[in-house]
Amino acid sequence: MTKSGLPVLQPMLGLPDKVTIWEVGARDGLQNESSVIPTAVKVELIQRLSAAGLPVVEATSFVRPEWVPQLGDAAEVMTGLPQGSSTRYPVLVPNLRGLEKAIDAGATEIAVFASATETFAKKNLNRTLATQMQMFGPVIAAAIDQDISVRGYVSMCFGDPWEGPVEPQAVVDVCDELMKLGCTSLSLGDTIGVATPGQVQDLISRLTNVGLSTAAIGVHFHDTYGQALANTLAALQSGVTTVDSSAGGLGGCPYAKSATGNLATEDLVWMLNGLGVATGVDLTALVQTSAWLAEIIGRPSPSRVVRAMIG
Ligand code: HMG
Ligand code: MG
Repeated sequence: MTKSGLPVLQPMLGLPDKVTIWEVGARDGLQNESSVIPTAVKVELIQRLSAAGLPVVEATSFVRPEWVPQLGDAAEVMTGLPQGSSTRYPVLVPNLRGLEKAIDAGATEIAVFASATETFAKKNLNRTLATQMQMFGPVIAAAIDQDISVRGYVSMCFGDPWEGPVEPQAVVDVCDELMKLGCTSLSLGDTIGVATPGQVQDLISRLTNVGLSTAAIGVHFHDTYGQALANTLAALQSGVTTVDSSAGGLGGCPYAKSATGNLATEDLVWMLNGLGVATGVDLTALVQTSAWLAEIIGRPSPSRVVRAMIG
């Protein structure tokens, strides 16, 4: 660490010059919180994340509120999005009902979220592997009709708490289906944080072998086993340039046993700053935002960088 409290700059060969951070704190970060977070706090969080330079801030989810009560105020959150900023504000949408509500609330970009395993499709979507695609197909088609781009998340890409290790080919098949339905990009979810870097590089090379561009592949690592940053570096070495992370390291899925927080955005930015990979993010502003949110939630941020920089 230098006197300025920032890492020493030492680039490494084989990494991209620039990474797009897809910030999921306001959605993945909050969806698992048991205490109700006021809408005004969510809106301030999104405003602060945007002001800290994050190019993409996933704002909320238009899911069935009975399934994720914490995000039942999705439409209200959308009314508070900062106007005139260059930040993009995608939202999660599972079905046509969700799409209708998202469009009414002004969403211009959405993400559907598929499962690579039968058990999680049932638990998270009340669908099978096959019927999840029957649900997403019309959503993606209707979104494209309205010039709304669609990201396709794939959960349980490496391991599933009920089914164990996941066959990479099963993930490739789901990715392929989502792209054929019209998704323009994907996010590979390690929902329960069990992957290690070799698995990450293997999956990415299987996807590029079937014709997918790394430009269309994002990675989404939960940090349950402390592997998220190592897995991210492996993905960057494989040519990926979009990385999902959550301010302060909050996150988890209420329907995935043992899913804990996402890769913390601060930990990611610290590493990328040291490597000289541009993100456009103001780390100090981000750390202050996560410290503010931790105070409201009532427990310290799980991010190591937040703890180190405010300690
Ligand atoms: P369902 O219970 O099967 O719903 O849920 P349904 O299709 O049978 O519909 C029943 C009623 O719900 C209907 O009302 C619908 O209108 C209503 P009725 O006609 O009976 O009066 N309904 C809705 N209301 C509001 N908004 C909606 C909506 N949809 C139906 N969108 C459903 C199926 C998919 C909706 C449900 O399973 C659901 O909402 N699941 C979402 C779960 C979730 O949000 N999980 C967390 C996000 S995924 C994640 O975190 C993983 C990720 O981070 C990546 C990773 O880490 O791996 C992305
Ligand atoms: Mg997640």
